[in-house]
Amino acid sequence: MRDIKHIGILTGGGDCPGLNSVIRAITKTAVLKYGVEVIGFIDGFRGLVENNYVQLDLRRVSGIGHTGGTILGTSNRDNPFNFMTMIQGQLQPTDQSDRAISNIKHLDLDGLIVIGGDGSLNISYKFFERGINIVGVPKTIDNDLSATDITFGFITAVNTASDALDKLHTTAESHHRVMILEVMGRYAGWIALYAGMSGSADVILIPEIPYSLDAIVSKIAQRFRQGKKFSIIVVAEGAHPQGGEMVVQSLVPTSHDPVRLGGIGQKVADEVSTRLTDIETRVTVLGHLQRGGGPTPYDRILATRYGVAAVDAFMEGKYGTMVSLQGNSITTVDLQEAIKEIRKVPVDSKIVDAARSIGITFGDY
Ligand code: F6P
Repeated sequence: MRDIKHIGILTGGGDCPGLNSVIRAITKTAVLKYGVEVIGFIDGFRGLVENNYVQLDLRRVSGIGHTGGTILGTSNRDNPFNFMTMIQGQLQPTDQSDRAISNIKHLDLDGLIVIGGDGSLNISYKFFERGINIVGVPKTIDNDLSATDITFGFITAVNTASDALDKLHTTAESHHRVMILEVMGRYAGWIALYAGMSGSADVILIPEIPYSLDAIVSKIAQRFRQGKKFSIIVVAEGAHPQGGEMVVQSLVPTSHDPVRLGGIGQKVADEVSTRLTDIETRVTVLGHLQRGGGPTPYDRILATRYGVAAVDAFMEGKYGTMVSLQGNSITTVDLQEAIKEIRKVPVDSKIVDAARSIGITFGDY
């Protein structure tokens, strides 16, 4: 076993349920199993650049396993390689990676465990290339990281979206309306697909399958003819019409991915209303509710397993890796492999097939 004494950790990118379970598992494993000290940087990579950190001990992580958010804070706009810095009274993007590395050295850290999604793991890989020992933990409600079967936080987000659909169902039925639920997921349709299947949606629109308005309208009209005077549509924020673009809500220039999506739900509602003038349509944007609250038991356990495995990997010197769930086992994969591309819903997958088999339309035909 290596002579490792201090590990730094941080949570980067958008928060998600289960972060505290990972922080707890890392700290407990490091202290109890290996006698290693852990410090946590505040607000993700910003804390690393500004040398802002807290000591994490057993007392500090006690009672947090079931809680939402992250006790360390996070940020999805602070990238040390493109960091907003005040220069002559003006905020300008600068490369602060040397400053971050010098903080790691001065704190005598043996390396970092980074709990993050696509953006944070890309940044982590750059630090790994600069000689920092890194182990990644896959986090995101979007479930869009390749090289792992599932990211923690995803199942909790699906739970929230599915619960919203159950509620929309009853009011849709009472008012004979078309109810549209816009969910997150960036460029992947995992949340929409899983929530839509669990919440009995009639139409699921995902980025991987561009939709045609005709197909949506014909599904609603067909249901109407069958006496079902309401319909439920789940639309992923990254969904877009055939030959059309995603709806961009805003841009966050320093973010690893500056694009923030949002607004497709209203666009679909407007389009449907122009064609089906007799049926009322309403839109609910679930937004950050999907990232809030405590993790489900599944995510608590997954996050705990990831945290334990990350410390084991670190102690075994498996740097430049990410812990990953493959089937029922936790293993490690090459970080470079893990960030190569985002994981999208395979359009010919069994789950898409299953949805089609029970009459759900993806708006393509
Ligand atoms: O990656 C997680 C996520 O919640 C996406 O689903 C969403 O597109 C984005 O983050 C929203 O980011 P922000 O918190 O900056 O609004």
